[in-house]
This record gives sequence, C-alpha cells and structure tokens, in this order.
Amino acid sequence: MTGKACAVQQFELGVCYYPEQWPEAMWEDDYRRMRELGFTIVRMGEFAWNVFEPEEGVYDFGLFDRAIALAHRHGLKVILGTPTATPPAWLTHRHPEVLNASKEGVLYRHGMRRHYNYSSPVYREYCARITRSMAEHYADHPVVVGWQIDNELNCEIQVFYSEADHAAFRMWLQNKYGTLAALNEAWGTVFWNQGYSDWEQIHLTRPTPADSVNPHLALDEKRFISDNTISFARLQAQIIRELAPKQWITTNGLFGHLDSHALTGELLDFFSYDSYPNFSTIWNDADRDTPMLDRTVSSTLSRVRSISPNFCIMEQQSGPGGWVNRMAQPSPKPGQMRLWTYQSVAHGADMLLYFRWRTATFGTEIYWHGINDYHNRPNRRVAEAAAVGRELGRLGADIAGSRYAAEAAMVRDYANEWDGELDVWHGPLREESEYGWTKALQLAHIPFDFVYMREETALEELTRYKVLVYPHPAIMTERTADLLKQYVAGGGKLLFGARTGYKDERGHCRMAPFPGPVADLCGVTVEDFTLLNGADSAATPLSWVNGLSGTETPARAHRFNDILRPEADTAEVLAEYAADYYAGMPALTCNRYGSGEAYYYGAAYSREVAQALIGRLGLEPAAAGWCELPPEVEIAVRVKDGRRFAFLLNYANREVEARLLQEADDLLEGVRLAGGRLALPPYGVKVLELK
Ligand code: GLA
Repeated sequence: MTGKACAVQQFELGVCYYPEQWPEAMWEDDYRRMRELGFTIVRMGEFAWNVFEPEEGVYDFGLFDRAIALAHRHGLKVILGTPTATPPAWLTHRHPEVLNASKEGVLYRHGMRRHYNYSSPVYREYCARITRSMAEHYADHPVVVGWQIDNELNCEIQVFYSEADHAAFRMWLQNKYGTLAALNEAWGTVFWNQGYSDWEQIHLTRPTPADSVNPHLALDEKRFISDNTISFARLQAQIIRELAPKQWITTNGLFGHLDSHALTGELLDFFSYDSYPNFSTIWNDADRDTPMLDRTVSSTLSRVRSISPNFCIMEQQSGPGGWVNRMAQPSPKPGQMRLWTYQSVAHGADMLLYFRWRTATFGTEIYWHGINDYHNRPNRRVAEAAAVGRELGRLGADIAGSRYAAEAAMVRDYANEWDGELDVWHGPLREESEYGWTKALQLAHIPFDFVYMREETALEELTRYKVLVYPHPAIMTERTADLLKQYVAGGGKLLFGARTGYKDERGHCRMAPFPGPVADLCGVTVEDFTLLNGADSAATPLSWVNGLSGTETPARAHRFNDILRPEADTAEVLAEYAADYYAGMPALTCNRYGSGEAYYYGAAYSREVAQALIGRLGLEPAAAGWCELPPEVEIAVRVKDGRRFAFLLNYANREVEARLLQEADDLLEGVRLAGGRLALPPYGVKVLELK
C-alpha cells in the first residue's frame, strides 16, 4: 500500500464533542469522564461558524478558547474543523449566490447543511476569511494537533447546479478542451444536433425529456465536480499550511464525485473516514442466505486504506443512528459498538473518534445517538467505550503503524465509477461483482485490498499482489492496458469481467473487437453479447470445463453475457454457457501471458463463480496452518517489525468457535493461549499474536 498515512506513536482514541451545544458548566465533567474512558483526543468546531463569527467580520474565539483550554487541562488533544459546511444565515441571506441549486435551478435554502456551492467567488472569499482567522488564532496552540477541512465534502449532495457552477464548468471545459471544436468532438455533439457554437450555450446537465443527457457531458460533469471540490478544499489547505505548519490536515470522506486519492495526495496529511456500519441493517442485502450486513463495511474500509494505509476514523458509530425525518436505525446490540471499533482498527485505523459524546437534545439529529444518552448517566455504550479504552491503552503502541497484509486486491477507478452512474449497460455490474468477490473472499478468510487505477499508478503498486480483480473497466486507456500487461507478464494473475475495454476515456465505444486494448492480453475477443434484463433471464446457467467446479448447481452467469472466442493458443476455456442460443460457447477463459494469467469472465461475478476461481488462483486463508475459522468470523492481519497481529471479528449474534493450531498471545485478555478450542462470544473480538 502506498499513500499518506496517519502517523502516531500511540493509538489515539477519542470522541466528537460540541461544547457550543451544552451548558459550559457540563464541560469539566465531560472531559473528566472522557479521560476515564481512556480518550486522548476530541474533535470540535466543524459546525460552529456563528460562534466564531457571529456577524460579518466580527470574530469571537471566547467559547472555543475556554473549551480548548479546559480540554488541555484534562490532557486531551484537539482537532479543529473549519465550519464551512454550515454557512451562517447572515451570509446566505446577504449573498444567495453562494447557495447550491437543484437541476431545475431552485436554490437550496438555509436550515440544513451543505447547502452552498464550491464555485461562488463570494463563498470562497468568506471561507478563506474564516479559515484564516481560525488558523491564525490556533496555529500555536499546544493542544490543537490538526485540522479537518469542512465536513464530509459531497455528503448529502454531490451535484451542483447554481449559476456559479455553470460558469465554473465552462471555465473548466475551456481549460480542458481549448476549442469548441475539440469539445464538440469529445462529446459527440453531431449526434442529435447538440453542437455548441458559443461557450455560453454550455451548461451542466439540465432537465431534459426522459431525463436523458449526453453521456460524455455527464462524465465530464463528474470530473469537473471532483476537481472543483478539490479546488475548494485547496483554498483552506493552503491557508492552514501557511499559517499553522506544525498542525496536520485531514478531511472526512468517502463520498461521490470526488477523487479522494487526488485530494489526499495533493492537500492532506492523511485521509479520514466516518464509519456507520449500522446502515447495513436498513439496506437490502442482495443475497439473503448469509447476508454480509455490517461486514460489507470492511470492503469500504479497504477503499479508505487504498488512500491512507493507516487512517483516522473521525466518526465511529456509537449508538443507533437516525435523523428526525430519515435513516431510522435500530440500536446496535451489546458488543457491536466494540466489534465495529475493532473492524476499523483491523483495517488500518490508528486514530478513532466516536460520534458523538452525548446525543443532541435538539435539532435534526436528536436520534443520532452518542455514547452518552440524554440523561447522561452510565449506560452500556459508555461501558463498551471504557472496555475499548482499556484495551487500546494496552495495545495501542504495539499496533500503531502496523500495516494490513493482503495478497489480493480489487481494482477500481473513478472514470468507470462515474460513467457507470448513468450507463446502465455497465454501471450496475461493478457493484454486483465487487459484492460477489467480497463475500467469497471474506468467507474464505482471504484479506484483500483495493487499488485505484489512476494516471500515476505505478507497476510496483500492482506487483505487490498475487491476484488483481478488475471486474468491469469499460473505459480502459492504452496506458492502463500497458500497465496491466506488464503486471501479468511479470507473473500476476488478473481477472476481468463483462464489458471490459470497450470505451475510450471520453466514453466513446471503440471500433475494435472487445475487450479492446486488452484483447491480446486475454487471448480472446467478444464475438457476441447480450444484456440480461428480464426476470426470467437475469442469469444464464454455466457448465464448468477443464477441471474447474463450483458449489452451486448450476452456476450462473449474471446480468450480462459476453460470448467469447478464443484467439490465442494459450487461452483455455474454463466455463461455457449452458443455455440460450449461445449454449456451448465460452463464458470464462484463462490466458497464459508471460509468466502470469489473464482471466476473462463474460458476466458479473457471483460469489459462486468467485469461489470456484479462488482455489485455482492459489490464494490462501490468512490463518492457514495456525487457526481454523468459522465463516462468521473475519480475519485481518496487521504487520509491523516482524510482528503479526491477527484480528478475529465475530459478526454473528451467537458464540462461534475457532480452533487454534498453535500457541498465541491473546492481547486483549493478556494471556497465552495453548491452542485448541477458541470461543468467540456474540459480536466478540480477539487480537492474537502468534508465537
Ligand atoms: C455524518 C456527519 C456528522 C453527523 C453524522 C450522523 O457523519 O459528519 O456530523 O451528521 O453523519 O448523521
């Protein structure tokens, strides 16, 4: 893993705190109890613009000066948020042009948050001023260790249609294309007479019949939003760097239409994430037989790790979540809050703050519960936080800086993610394949990373993995194709799925046999294809050949079927379609290429197909030879200085049993285990070090 890591000597555990929402008389007791729980750090300030600047140009740091001084006295460090996610009413009232707008041009008004746009020069000026005054004021404060820019950039809304955004988009396009002729070409505007003869004619997507838009414009719109978000964050990052060079900078993601890798690479010291696994209890799980629920968050955490190998969880769920009007979640069961904490830690968190210290008694989030209830008396969540505090107090220095170990990775890129939002011919495939692989790898106890394919991705970032799964890179540049060929030629095993390589980076279809620039790597071409979109034809039966076999009878090829034609002698057929007009035609192939293998599967990967391939790929369970694990348990291994820390996480609501095949230290209990039966209680966690 590359990327900028959160670098701490000792694990930092803490909580998000809102001193402006509580009587000052409560602060002292709050901080005292935070320390009792083993907390070392608090985040504050990110929504308090009115407190810092009650009127335009009038600054008042009194409340936060006192809150921070008291935190200092109690030995707590402080992360300060810039309050730009919540512009004051005095600002939006005077300058409505700072507001974001819907596609129809209707302004989003005061009364929520994130109702502003990133493009308005006026808003940027106000944001620069508040950031400058806060950074000047707190630059040398001994306990202010770092800054969070804004809050959750692109959460809640990730499209922007104010007048300022349309204008900024035009500027961005002029910079990208130079001439209208180049833009017209890239967007294929000869189709349906969409050509532009003046830059002023161009807009971000607007309402249209059938809600259909030019797909190349839609892709550029997302690229623009990402660049524009980064440019908005850059303004604040530059001010803080200049005025407060000793304090670090982060922000909390991970949201749409934003290249968080570029954001972090250019502006931040490390990336942060807000983890709310309880969302999974109100989302549907496509495969209900053994639903992954909160375990799927591990896959998201692996994406976070692709940005920062050690990261901060700026908000960790500490109770039931819910706004007054949406997101109604059940209460986490006893043990789940601790389990989710270790899920984050297992995946690379070295700093973790619970959201939030106490549930708000007013506002939209009166049901987004904190560790403490409204009544502020001891409860089971406080007890769980205390257990985590004790445990991480012991373990923290050992595990800080250790790195998650994986031999396999899933590959993603932003262009396909954004293009696939509109394009129903490839977009839905990725999620299905990632889910299939996540589940297969999780149940086989094989840890995996994510790698993002970017312009600057280097071969060394790929060759650290034995296996890469890049399920549906419909858009494939020649550069990416070359890099992947080098990876396979050098011994890597690479797996593609349906629709690979048929578009160029503008989103135009190639006039070449698919999979375009990787056809020679795969040793096959796509002879024919069909989208499966009817209730009775969402999946086509498969038959295995050449020794591959699966658990499901019959295995099925989901969502899309590329019918393959082997072109190279080195291409071997591993499965055929077993129905429809293409029965008997190849569905899954493996091509030997240099010292490696390139697989092409003509459909979206299901868990069963991924499971059938895992054995052949030579991937081993992380506990192979030292522990037998039941399917309910996830394993993650973090490694540092030759030491290996194995996290065992039981997501089930019942006790499950593992079998330890050798001696190990149980680091949470502080005992040496001889081997044999190892019980994990409901939602239980073990951290083992092998002897
Ligand atoms: C996000 C925000 C927090 C809070 C929580 C719960 O993560 O950053 O301010 O709103 O969600 O809704």
